Parts: sequence; structure tokens; C-alpha cells
Amino acid sequence: MLNFNKPRSQPRPPRSYALGGVDHAEPIKKKGFVRKIVFALGLVALCIFMLKQSPTFKSPSPFSRRETGVTHVLVTGGAGYIGSHATLRLLKDSFRVTIVDNLSRGNIGAVKVLQDLFPEPGRLQFIYADLGDAKVVNKIFSENAFDAVMHFAAVAYVGESTLDPLKYYHNITSNTLVVLEAMAAHNVNTLIYSSTCATYGEPEKMPITEETPQHPINPYGKAKKMSEDIIQDFHKNSDMAVMILRYFNVIGSDPDGTLGEAPRPELREHGRISGACFDAARGITKGLKVRGTDYKTSDGTCIRDYIDVTDLVDAHVKALENAKPGHVGIYNVGTGKGRSVKEFVEACEKATGASIKVEYLPRRPGDYAEVFSDPSKIRLELNWSAQFTDLEKSLQVAWKWQKSHHNGYGSTEASI
Ligand SMILES: NC(=O)c1ccc[n+]([C@@H]2O[C@H](COP(=O)([O-])OP(=O)(O)OC[C@H]3O[C@@H](n4cnc5c(N)ncnc54)[C@H](O)[C@@H]3O)[C@@H](O)[C@H]2O)c1
Ligand SMILES: *[C@@H]1O[C@H](CO)[C@@H](O)[C@H](O)[C@H]1NC(C)=O
Ligand SMILES: *[C@@H]1O[C@H](CO)[C@@H](O)[C@H](O)[C@H]1NC(C)=O
Ligand SMILES: *[C@@H]1O[C@H](CO)[C@@H](O)[C@H](O)[C@H]1NC(C)=O
Repeated sequence: MLNFNKPRSQPRPPRSYALGGVDHAEPIKKKGFVRKIVFALGLVALCIFMLKQSPTFKSPSPFSRRETGVTHVLVTGGAGYIGSHATLRLLKDSFRVTIVDNLSRGNIGAVKVLQDLFPEPGRLQFIYADLGDAKVVNKIFSENAFDAVMHFAAVAYVGESTLDPLKYYHNITSNTLVVLEAMAAHNVNTLIYSSTCATYGEPEKMPITEETPQHPINPYGKAKKMSEDIIQDFHKNSDMAVMILRYFNVIGSDPDGTLGEAPRPELREHGRISGACFDAARGITKGLKVRGTDYKTSDGTCIRDYIDVTDLVDAHVKALENAKPGHVGIYNVGTGKGRSVKEFVEACEKATGASIKVEYLPRRPGDYAEVFSDPSKIRLELNWSAQFTDLEKSLQVAWKWQKSHHNGYGSTEASI
């Protein structure tokens, strides 16, 4: 608060020119001498204490130095659904992991689960930060010795992207640029990028190969396509090792039951089919709304390619192992098999044991009839193929976690 009645400051006393103790004319008295020694010792002790408190004095963190035989991966968005599963797999495979996430969508509970599983120093570190803040991101890169980046952090709902496109261009395209610039500035030379089949739009020919032309039809797909373009253009003049993975529809959760998918309640309306099925099975919602029954498919409902998250993170590890400097690898990650929404709902009913009320509605604008991948490139080049292809089993595993986590990861979520 401004105080206008403040009295004018007193004229300064004349400066003393006796700097330090040098000009002391008086001989030092004994009592004063002891007092000074005690004071000096106190000061030294205080300095040591303060230095010890400051992070720079601590023995250097294992995350800040390279160690032969240890690959340190920065996982952006590691508190999210796929990022947390990827972190679990990386830690199991003896990687060192730093998660950067601002918890705008993810769950600190997922990070805690991972920290409890891998408490040893130098295994997992969590940094709360916003990737939109270039200064902070640069600081993180200068204080940590990353060997590779898996860039998951994003906003990722097609429906939401049509309502709030700027959010998507900001948090997908612009943030990818920030990450890429920091990698270039700090010589981090391996990038595994989370892309999506939404970058293809609505191709006429199925299945989708990596050669299928990309014509995205919503801001989410466009923002991801732009990120891919930025990465590829940058790559032309760098020897970075890049892998771009275009995921199809991700489902399931960790078979050990430690992690699950727990989106914010307010995102449910934009949500994905598995979440919607589970909510219906649990009675949180009245039933499931299936939009569109007159598509040119076997049963009239849309057809998608559902990939289990355990398979997906395996593809990331294979991509990391096979990333080559100066090379961009682009791969579809899917099962190669399409399933209709009707089939999905049946599998969900069997997995949950609940009967789900289905309401059939007209088509949702922007949905396409049929999307599924041709995953042969990744099979031939990375020896990867989907193993968890039984829809019902994948949903059973996910349902088990959902049932025992009514409140998601708890503390960060509003109760439902
Ligand atoms: N789930 C799918 O079916 C699917 C399909 C294709 C591609 N993808 C891609 O996979 C990636 C992960 O998706 P997900 O399903 O795990 O989503 P998610 O929302 O569960 O996780 C994203 C994480 O990123 C974090 N984040 C977002 N903006 C951030 C920022 N500015 N700074 C720091 N952290 C930030 C969020 O807090 C969240 O933890 C995304 O890039 C998404 O586009 C997902
Ligand atoms: C997360 O990051 C976004 C920018 O991408 C920012 O607008 C938002 O405030 C951040 N949220 C938190 C909780 O820090
Ligand atoms: C994304 O960016 C917008 C600004 O365009 C910001 O308000 C928002 O909080 C960001 N993060 C998320 C997760 O939406
Ligand atoms: C490919 O993967 C399978 C397991 O999925 C493994 O048995 C086989 O040895 C691998 N082949 C090569 C060439 O690495």
C-alpha cells in the first residue's frame, strides 16, 4: 500500500571510510576479540548450513550426470494415461526416468504409485512444470542429462479440439516446438513422438499405411500433423534420431493392476469409448450413447482399431532401441484389425458383467465410418506386433483397476 504521509527520510549520516578492519587505529581489546571470533565462527557455520540447503551444494543429483550403461529418458506427460504406463515399462527395463508434467490433466497419484515401486535414488524424478514455459523447460534441460525424450504431453480429445482449437495448437504444436528447441540447444538427440491416426483424417482406402496421405479434419489431428512437420523439417539439418508413432485407439491398462486410466470428470463428455462403457457399467451414467448406426459397415456402427496400452508402450521401447541418428522412423501402432462399436460394447458387457443400456443416436459430425491400421511396417522394421488383441481381456484388466479405484487416483480428483 502506498503511504503518502510517510515522513521524508532523514539525511544520510556521513559515510564511514573505514572499510573493513584495516583502518582500526585502536588496539583490539581482548573481550571484543573473543566476541569477534565467536561471531565469525557463527557466520561460517551459517554459511555452511545455507550452502548445504541450496540444491547446488548437494552432491550432484544422479539425474544431472550421464552414466555409462544408463539411459535417462525425459517423459513429458508422464502423469497421464499413456505416459505413466510408459514410465512403468521404462523403469522395469532399468531406464532412468524424469517425468515433466503440469498435472493439468494427469494424476499425481500415478506418479506416487511409480515412486513407491521404484524408490531407489536415480530411478524416477518428477518435475512439476509447464512445457509452454520455454525458460523453465530450458532450465530443466540444463540441470538434467537426458539421453532421449518421449514426448507424450498434450491435450488429446477430438471433440474438445473442435470447441477450443487454440488450446490444441498451443499445447500440442507450440509446446512441441519448445521441447524440440530445448533438445537442440542441449544436444539431446533422440525423440520419440506421440502422434495419432487422427493425422490421416478420413482416408478412402483401408487399411491405413504410413504412405496414406495425411489430411486431418479436426484441430487435434491438424495440431499433431503440424508437430510432425516441424519435427521433420528440423530433422533435415540435424542428426537427431526421431521416431514418430501414430497410435490408433488406445485402451486397457497395466496387467499388474498398478495403473489405470483416470481422466478428469469434466472430460468425460469428450471421453473415449472405454471410459464411457465403464461409467455405464458402474451406473455413473444411465447408459451408453452410440452415435450412428447407418454407416456402411457390417453392423452399421463405426469401426476402429483398438490397441492395448501395454503393447503401445512396448512399441515405444522398441522405437527407442532402434532410433538411429539422422533418421526419422514413422510407424502406425495398431492391431491391424477393426472392431465395430457394437462389438466393443458387447466385449465391455462381458468384461464388466454388467448389462449396458445402449441408446442409438444419429451420427456425430466429423466421425468416419471405418479406421484401422496396416501395422506391417513396424512389424518388419522393429519386430513389434500387438500381443494383447483380445478386446474382452484388455477391458477386463482395465475394469479390474476401475472397480478398485472408484475415485480414480484419489486426491487429485473430485469424487464421483
Ligand atoms: N489416448 C489415446 O487414445 C491416444 C491416441 C493417439 C495419440 N495419443 C497421444 O498420446 C499422448 C498421451 O495421451 P494420453 O491419453 O495419455 O493423455 P493424458 O491427458 O492422460 O496425458 C497427457 C499428460 O500431459 C500433461 N500435459 C498437458 N499439457 C501439458 C503442459 N503444457 N505441460 C506439462 N504437462 C502437460 C497432462 O497433465 C497429462 O498428464 C498425447 O500426445 C496424445 O495425443 C493418445
Ligand atoms: C498447465 O499448462 C498450461 C499451458 O499449457 C497452463 O495454461 C496451465 O495453467 C498449467 N496448469 C497448471 C496447473 O500449472
Ligand atoms: C493449453 O493452452 C491454453 C492456452 O491456449 C491454456 O489456457 C490451457 O490451460 C493449456 N493447458 C491445457 C491442459 O488445456
Ligand atoms: C522378434 O520378437 C520375438 C518376440 O516377440 C522374438 O522371439 C524374436 O527373436 C524377435 N526377432 C528378432 C529378429 O529380433
